[in-house]
Amino acid sequence: MSLHTVSESALGNNLALRLEGISVRYRIPHERYATLREHAIRWLKRHIRYDDYLALRDISLRVHKGEMLGIIGPNGAGKSTLLKVVARVLKPKKGTVWICGRVAPLLECGAGFHTELTGRENIYLNGTLLGLSRKEIESRYQGIVDFAELRDFIDAPLRTYSSGMVSRLGFAIATDANADILIIDEVLAVGDVSFQEKSLERIKRFRRDGTTILFVSHNMEAVKSMCDKVIWLDHGVIKADGSASEVVRQYLSGDLAGS
Ligand SMILES: Nc1ncnc2c1ncn2[C@@H]1O[C@H](COP(=O)(O)OP(=O)(O)OP(=O)(O)O)[C@@H](O)[C@H]1O
Ligand SMILES: [Mg+2]
Repeated sequence: MSLHTVSESALGNNLALRLEGISVRYRIPHERYATLREHAIRWLKRHIRYDDYLALRDISLRVHKGEMLGIIGPNGAGKSTLLKVVARVLKPKKGTVWICGRVAPLLECGAGFHTELTGRENIYLNGTLLGLSRKEIESRYQGIVDFAELRDFIDAPLRTYSSGMVSRLGFAIATDANADILIIDEVLAVGDVSFQEKSLERIKRFRRDGTTILFVSHNMEAVKSMCDKVIWLDHGVIKADGSASEVVRQYLSGDLAGS
């Protein structure tokens, strides 16, 4: 697999992102062992068996600059896996990714966030990884905490946060820096109503400013009203792609023949 950060001319056609033949495989241990000792013995004897699970199968897609692409599909379809490939949290088994510009970080437990660190430490850590100086992070810090509304919890470790709180912090950090490509996973699912509204406003502002956005959501109304194009993922393959209203209609009716 290869991953290229390229200039506009190299990607061509005003594309922000291109994936070609992406496959991602997860290895899942076949059996569970009662004790760590048993697990270690099996490992030493090379007796651990794995099941390979193909979470993405030969995915190709192109996203134009300034476009907002919706990614929909049932639980386990591969949506978050696809975002992780774009965010470079995950290395595909096969395929090529071309990216023009800077991708905002994908932050959730397991991707960029460390559960033993506090909210404050995670903000500094991610700012550092984004290449910001300590001074730059300091100047952004309060805005992030205010947007996430986590003032009272910012010095507690992330493992004590609710999933909505983690998601708020992730969204606040990811949308604070100006990235060329924004990736948003399910912020509307776990945030409470007021946070959802606030996040939607912020997403719309990025959209108006011409940021390329990949938007994963189960909220079909939000997808229809905001996305230019949509892909429907199912069992790691693209089942349909096209205009937001048409693909959402097909997905909701389970219909691929069209009307
Ligand atoms: N770290 C992992 N190890 C093993 N399997 C994984 C891992 N992460 C995801 N999977 C599997 O890959 C498949 C795709 O998962 P993914 O999280 O991409 O789905 P999703 O479309 O985002 O679902 P949801 O709507 O529930 O968020 C699922 O079958 C899941 O069990
Ligand atoms: Mg997901």
